[in-house]
Amino acid sequence: MSARVVAFANVKGGCAKTLSSTSTAAAFAERGLKVCVIDLDPQHGVSTVLGIAVDPNRTIGEAILGQVTLAEIAVETPWGFSVIPATRNLNLAAAMLTGNRMIQWQTVLRELIEEAGDTFEIVILDTPPGGDGTLISLGINAADDLVIVAVPDLAPMEHAKETLDLAGLAKGPRGFNRDLNVVGCLRTMAQPLTKAYRNSTALAEALGVPILPIEIPYSTTARDAALDLQPILTYAPTNAVSTAYRALAGFLLGESVEATEIVEAVA
Ligand SMILES: Nc1ncnc2c1ncn2[C@@H]1O[C@H](COP(=O)(O)OP(=O)(O)OP(=O)(O)O)[C@@H](O)[C@H]1O
Ligand SMILES: [Mg+2]
Repeated sequence: MSARVVAFANVKGGCAKTLSSTSTAAAFAERGLKVCVIDLDPQHGVSTVLGIAVDPNRTIGEAILGQVTLAEIAVETPWGFSVIPATRNLNLAAAMLTGNRMIQWQTVLRELIEEAGDTFEIVILDTPPGGDGTLISLGINAADDLVIVAVPDLAPMEHAKETLDLAGLAKGPRGFNRDLNVVGCLRTMAQPLTKAYRNSTALAEALGVPILPIEIPYSTTARDAALDLQPILTYAPTNAVSTAYRALAGFLLGESVEATEIVEAVA
């Protein structure tokens, strides 16, 4: 039985993909699930904000080239989940992967996760922004569930639509992941008193982007947790951001949730 795979994505940078990945991983781990976060970003945000000591020969880059397995390179963290790290060499590995005309590269990550069998129950993919689309494609094609993350503002919501369109291609007749479940768009860093936030619901509707009932408030503590090299769930367990990510984990497991009520400027 292979792990359930949840990908966080938006082609737009800085939307809290990495914070969502590490926080949701911590929330699943609190429930006793065997969780692994794969850092699919050459800017290695997950590895950086969690202070992972990275062996440059044992990263996701070597894994997608078939040199190591996920199970053998997963790094345990003190928070009950493991991490497959990345370095900036992931760009080179991705180019080598797509340059190999003898294989179908789009499904390589999914196959690696399947090969890991029941080593993990949940795999979380932190995908990178932009780039040439190779790594986002690897992530979307490996996912069971796709959570699009977006700061409720004009550009990120438009990029959420672009990300939704990529998911549509993956699910389409020539796609590689017909069974992909698009969970919806998670609004992050939400500040309800801003006009951008108030406009975002109508904007999402106009763009055809489904908004999730859970949203993540803005909190300066989110940044502090990263500086302290730990997930916000352990750094500030009762912070509204931590509570919202626990609710997201429950939602992904099929629990019914009340729509989160966002309070402006949570410290
Ligand atoms: N709820 C929040 N409140 C306040 N700051 C936040 C929140 N979520 C994330 N941040 C901060 O916003 C910045 C961007 O977050 P993060 O790195 O998770 O985004 P990203 O989408 O992974 O970015 P990139 O596209 O560069 O990988 C970070 O400094 C992070 O600490
Ligand atoms: Mg990131």
